[in-house]
Amino acid sequence: MSSHARPALAVIGGSGFYDFFDNEATHVEVETPYGAPSAPIAVGEVEGRPVAFVPRHGKSHEFAPHTLPYRANLWALRSLGVRRVFAPCAVGSLRGDWGPGTVAVPDQLVDRTSGRPQTYFDGGGVHVSFADPYCDDLRTATIKSANDALPMKGAGTMVVVQGPRFSTRAESRWFAGQGWDLVNMTGHPEAVLARELEMCYAAVALVTDLDAGLEEGAGVHAIDVFAEFKRNLAPFKELIRRSVAAVTETDTCDRCRVHTGVSLPFELP
Ligand code: ADE
Repeated sequence: MSSHARPALAVIGGSGFYDFFDNEATHVEVETPYGAPSAPIAVGEVEGRPVAFVPRHGKSHEFAPHTLPYRANLWALRSLGVRRVFAPCAVGSLRGDWGPGTVAVPDQLVDRTSGRPQTYFDGGGVHVSFADPYCDDLRTATIKSANDALPMKGAGTMVVVQGPRFSTRAESRWFAGQGWDLVNMTGHPEAVLARELEMCYAAVALVTDLDAGLEEGAGVHAIDVFAEFKRNLAPFKELIRRSVAAVTETDTCDRCRVHTGVSLPFELP
């Protein structure tokens, strides 16, 4: 890690968000019991503090949502000292009044994924509390960091679908009918793995499209989602930077410390 100290804060960048630091970063190759993370972990600085960054899908988007090394990513960050994680992501909107360019800081998630390893405790005996999947401190830091560049919604329910396909109109209408606000493909199991490692975690969702149940046109297409994300990438990154800078406490908060009482299956360095 050479010149950089151990980072307590991290950012996991989503689709289209493959780098974070303007200043020089060190790239750390980390091996974990769960294989390699999506990419070497970049450690740079935000306002003089060391911060870690990993592009969730890999440097060139090599990993699909269902093949992503979620366990390795969270483990790698935690092994470098990270305690608090911001997780920017692209999302579809399930509400006509939250259009593209809106940023939402969800307070709930619904898991509609399947077959993704979602625990470090395959041995049993550990059932973490997940009633409130996101860290309120990190959510507040983001909400307070909003400015006029991107409209901000301070709560919402994000349904995480398996992908990699987008939803049918019927699925999408069903999600909206449940009162859910956002749809995404990567928010789970990332959030629960962070919880199991006693790291604070908050998703920060940039709306790229109205999901298929809302729009009357040709449905959601990846090329449009990427183009829309790119359009807002600069102010979105800036929001994440301000949010990181707004965090004063660098240790896990009491609510995200789950005290499993059971040792992790492998020792963290
Ligand atoms: N990510 C961005 N837009 C999405 C959508 N409509 N459905 C699922 N994931 C998405």
